[in-house]
Amino acid sequence: MYEEFLDQYPEYQSTAHLDALRAAEYARLDAQGCVYLDYTGAGLHAESQVREHAALLTQQVLGNPHSASPASSMTTGLVEGARRAVLEWFNATRDYTAIFTQNATGALKHVAESYPFAPGGRLLLSADNHNSVNGMREFARARGAAVSYAPLTVPELRLDAAQLDALLVEADSTASNLFAFPAQSNFTGVQHPLEYVERAQQCGWDVLLDAAAFVPTNRLDLQAVRPEFVSVSFYKMFGYPTGVGCLLVRTAALHTLHRPWFAGGTENFATVGGRRHVLSAGEAGFEDGTLNYLSIAAVEIGLRHLAAAGIDAIHTRVMCLTGWLLSKLVELKHSNGRPMVRIYGPITTAGRGAIVTMNFYDPAGHLVDYRRVEELAAQQGISLRTGCFCNPGPGETAEEITEDDIVAGLAANPNLTLPLFLQMITHRGGKSAGAIRVSFGIASNAADAHRFYEFAAGLRDQTRMTVGEATFDIESCRVIRDGS
Ligand SMILES: Cc1ncc(COP(=O)(O)O)c(C=O)c1O
Repeated sequence: MYEEFLDQYPEYQSTAHLDALRAAEYARLDAQGCVYLDYTGAGLHAESQVREHAALLTQQVLGNPHSASPASSMTTGLVEGARRAVLEWFNATRDYTAIFTQNATGALKHVAESYPFAPGGRLLLSADNHNSVNGMREFARARGAAVSYAPLTVPELRLDAAQLDALLVEADSTASNLFAFPAQSNFTGVQHPLEYVERAQQCGWDVLLDAAAFVPTNRLDLQAVRPEFVSVSFYKMFGYPTGVGCLLVRTAALHTLHRPWFAGGTENFATVGGRRHVLSAGEAGFEDGTLNYLSIAAVEIGLRHLAAAGIDAIHTRVMCLTGWLLSKLVELKHSNGRPMVRIYGPITTAGRGAIVTMNFYDPAGHLVDYRRVEELAAQQGISLRTGCFCNPGPGETAEEITEDDIVAGLAANPNLTLPLFLQMITHRGGKSAGAIRVSFGIASNAADAHRFYEFAAGLRDQTRMTVGEATFDIESCRVIRDGS
């Protein structure tokens, strides 16, 4: 099968250095027989990143930054070096400001709470957005801005260009209007056209590009695409450190953000008696309290690692794996001819990234509960992701889940959770708001894709499935026969 894969994807061979990298830096994967397929959930770190960071921490005396002592200056140097490295990575040194945050969500919250939403203005969201973007609507609504959603097409779950255009031209260009969409969907892997950034700007919108799921396997050049705001999390790009993300703001747009408060580290001057404060200029006005400075020092190490691996090579490799897996999964059929798999989003590699999201169906055409599939995959050492991935829109569109479904769910149980809602709608109409997501990244190889394909193919004709020595009932996931 590997030969057949190479015949179809000869460019995969140009990424052979990533096999060497996996052997040297991610040996724990093969040592533990682990098939890691959740790079959109979290990237994996290389061993050398941790070693280099540990060496830095053990050799240097690092104090709280931003004062003149040697221990403080050393830290300030590391933080500012990381900031420079981030701006260089995104080709943004000339006209963007990098604000360190806790994660992409922290970056999004800065925009949500500081953007001047007001009556007459608008927040336009893609129906395909992470909940950390969807949640911005609460700030907009509270301040009287109109909130609307740009819908998705079926079945590819791309932004509907005509409807988006119609929504974009509705804006009053003298008001504050914000359009927020993801460069890559964390649900379907769809890459929404980056040309929408300029189109929206021409219609009087500021644009927030959520790049969290895009940048681990794609180059983002902020000279070519120039949104006002960009959100990322570094652990998604290179696994380590966690707890650090970034908001990139076009420096010319920084003045549009009005911070609702000040905190230690963000003001140049604050008095008690005078009840006045003067916010620091630039990124300092947004970095509340003491930065996560030890972890930030590991960001530059991570970026160097990604540069050495080559973001273009990573992209080539993961797209070969995605194309191959998609083509194999759509071919899977039960003996009675019924398809085994439904893919959410495009079934070719055009305009998409390295995420494959699906549900399985049994020979009678009944949906197999994704939680069962996750448990069965876990039995085979496969780590994948299930649920709605904090991005409810694409699943709702694909399954035609209506507002009525949701209202009925909330009426039946005001403390509704996703699993309860799933149970309800599955019983009401065989719909599923959740799915199974496989995603590739820096250390992925053809064997990972193949192992998942074999696992999927193992569900053919099955109402039962054998994993190792044991046989499971797929629906209940109960062991029917334990051969050990
Ligand atoms: C597209 C997208 N945006 C935002 C986020 C939020 O990232 P974090 O949880 O690191 O804040 C995620 C996380 O999965 C994501 O995939």
